[in-house]
Amino acid sequence: MELENEAIAVRTKVVDGGIMVVTISNPPVNALSVKVRQGLKDALSRAQNDPQVVAIVMVGDNGNFIAGADIREFGQPPQSPSLPEVTNAIEASAKPVVAVIEGAALGGGLEVALAAHFRVVLPTARMGLPEVNLGLLPGAGGTQRAPRLMGMKAAADLMLTGRHLQSNEAVLLGLADSIVLDSDQDLVSIGVACARGLVGLAKPVVRTRDREVPNKDSALDELDEVWRANAKKAEGLFSPKKIVECLRASVELPFDDALALERKLFVECLNSPQRAGLVHAFFAEREVAKVPEIEKASVRPYQRIALIGGGTMGAGIAVSVLDSGLPVMMLERDEASIARGRANVEKVYDAMVEKGRISRDVRAAKLSNFSTSIDFNDLADIDLVIEAVFEDLEVKKSVFRELDRVCKAGAVLATNTSYLDIDLIASATSRPQDVIGLHFFSPANIMKLMEIVVPSATSADVVATAFSLAKKLKKIPVRAGICDGFIGNRILAAYKQAADYLMEDGASPYEIDEAVRAFGFPMGPFQVTDLAGGDISWAARKRRAPTRDKRLRYVEIADRICENGWFGQKTGRGFYLYPNGARIGAADPEVMQIVNAERAKKGIRPREFSSEEIMRRYVAAMVNEGAKILEEGIALRPLDIDVVFLHGYGFPRFRGGPMKYADMVGLKTVLADLKEFQKDDEFFWKPAQLIETLVDEARDFESLNGRR
Ligand code: CAA
Ligand code: NAI
Repeated sequence: MELENEAIAVRTKVVDGGIMVVTISNPPVNALSVKVRQGLKDALSRAQNDPQVVAIVMVGDNGNFIAGADIREFGQPPQSPSLPEVTNAIEASAKPVVAVIEGAALGGGLEVALAAHFRVVLPTARMGLPEVNLGLLPGAGGTQRAPRLMGMKAAADLMLTGRHLQSNEAVLLGLADSIVLDSDQDLVSIGVACARGLVGLAKPVVRTRDREVPNKDSALDELDEVWRANAKKAEGLFSPKKIVECLRASVELPFDDALALERKLFVECLNSPQRAGLVHAFFAEREVAKVPEIEKASVRPYQRIALIGGGTMGAGIAVSVLDSGLPVMMLERDEASIARGRANVEKVYDAMVEKGRISRDVRAAKLSNFSTSIDFNDLADIDLVIEAVFEDLEVKKSVFRELDRVCKAGAVLATNTSYLDIDLIASATSRPQDVIGLHFFSPANIMKLMEIVVPSATSADVVATAFSLAKKLKKIPVRAGICDGFIGNRILAAYKQAADYLMEDGASPYEIDEAVRAFGFPMGPFQVTDLAGGDISWAARKRRAPTRDKRLRYVEIADRICENGWFGQKTGRGFYLYPNGARIGAADPEVMQIVNAERAKKGIRPREFSSEEIMRRYVAAMVNEGAKILEEGIALRPLDIDVVFLHGYGFPRFRGGPMKYADMVGLKTVLADLKEFQKDDEFFWKPAQLIETLVDEARDFESLNGRR
């Protein structure tokens, strides 16, 4: 007879004269929601009480074992039974328990398996304790059982990096007991065979809790070593230190005391704002791919891809396409430019060969998919074109006129413009419905973010195609509407402005960068300018000068610096000094003289800003512009803005993104800040209407994410 828990989350069936098969079935990934935990607990207790049952086999449905706790339950009141209750019941079972693992056994899912008495894995198994990525620690015995099974070094590495192990590595490290390579065998017969083996043993099974951590005397040294290797990544994070505390307990405390400590620290992590930020980031990254066009349109075929322009972006995008296995043709202006374009692509693969990341054969295989041309007529068969020529409307329009002339009907025509109005670019063609923005970030073969910019006339299947391409290229796509700078660069302009005001009003660029880094960004705004090249933003400022709103305060300090030819790292000095090609800049007293002279010129009496005030202003500018972007429908949801900032601009992941951060600070507080700053500059700091409305209605940005 087959017994089913409510909504068939856990099924049990006794087979082969006494082996209870427990099947976890909670699509899509068998997460451990309360009904699964309850189902497992009930199954375990039935097995203990049923004299017919001699052993238990746990398997997962749908190609996975269990992908972990149900992340959607975090932040809600805990529901019984807890996962530790379940894992402890599994381990305590008087009858041997076998876990058969295919697909994901992650987090709490792996902890369920670790509590079993035997683990057999299939080649598809991916095992890991990635809780650290969600601001958590393995809270169901993982911190105690993993080191006992695989030793301190491997266990600490697994938990502090959050990486997944393949099946063979899991066996080698002792996390799994055996591997079945025969793909014809089904999960149940594999499990039954193992269970029979355990039942037939003369000695009782050894429970993991009764083992000692191997090499106990040197375990804490091993832990120190792994901690040092990961300390930089863990900087500013809450849960890694708690993981280390639990791991120490695995050698210093009796098992049950260590479990109690693990639970206490797990709850601390669960309640931390970092956990909320990281879990938000996890879901937001998946939600961004859900846009209205995908549901109503099918994807156009895109086997043949062409790139126009082989500069920084063209070459990076070409590598990204080649890495996905698709062929790409690069078109440039003339032979010399195409030689440069090809060299740009080869350079990327040469560096990979040099670092040992790919072999010469792989390099050759990838480049065999790469072709070049200087003749637009060669594009007649192309399915999808990505233009990455100079950021100049007239140049882009002339390219699109050519594309319109030569490309077949139905070809997708994309531009990688950073700021320009894609409606105007599309107007150069007779087929604006086929034109779209694919805004990659530099370096395009590395950066995951891709803004998919949708002009007014674009047809839904072109949008669906763009999202499909993003998936193929392993990018994180975010839908954006047309405006100057789309989502990311438009918001960047606003908070850069706030940084300039802070500098002119009294904070040094070095203090501002330091505050921004302390908040969790990898770099401050002036370091970014120096890295990207001050001349680039200078050119943009000059281009915009005629149309700049006269009500907007303009800070000239960066112009003064550029007038000296100080363009940042590439010229050896910018806001910072880079003597002898140094990568990390030193404060420059001459820059401070320029800053002081500009302040004096405007009659500004500099005042002090604490790091805290610097960040209040910096983030308020970001959030306020984000709210305006939402009002205008440029971003679909606040979470889309968060993902752009997490993946394109270095916003600290543990804070969830600017809009999530604003929710955590409280929109009331953000609005009060904006109103306070408005006293300095009525125009720049005017609060977005959306923030006023949300505060009036006691709502937050999350209420606009459509997930409540
Ligand atoms: N809880 C709830 N939903 C989950 C989930 C989880 N643990 N893991 C994945 N999902 C959902 C995703 O949100 C997604 O939903 P939508 O289709 O509605 O967007 C769906 O499952 C499929 O996920 P992916 O798109 O990520 O699919 P994939 O095949 O690319 O990857 C995966 C599958 C490797 C399992 C990946 O989803 C993943 O890494 N999941 C998280 C694993 C994890 O971190 N587990 C630890 C949880 S914390 C824990 O377990 C703590 C504890 O001890 C109590
Ligand atoms: P780049 O100057 O490095 O490369 C431009 C290339 O286009 C040159 O190789 C040039 O020969 C070629 N080109 C110019 N006119 C052409 C034509 N008519 N036909 C064929 N090729 C032509 O510029 P970069 O940095 O690669 O930028 C390209 C585009 O990508 C711009 O629109 C830019 O705004 C955008 N972008 C740039 C980013 C960056 O960080 N560099 C980031 C995201 C987008």
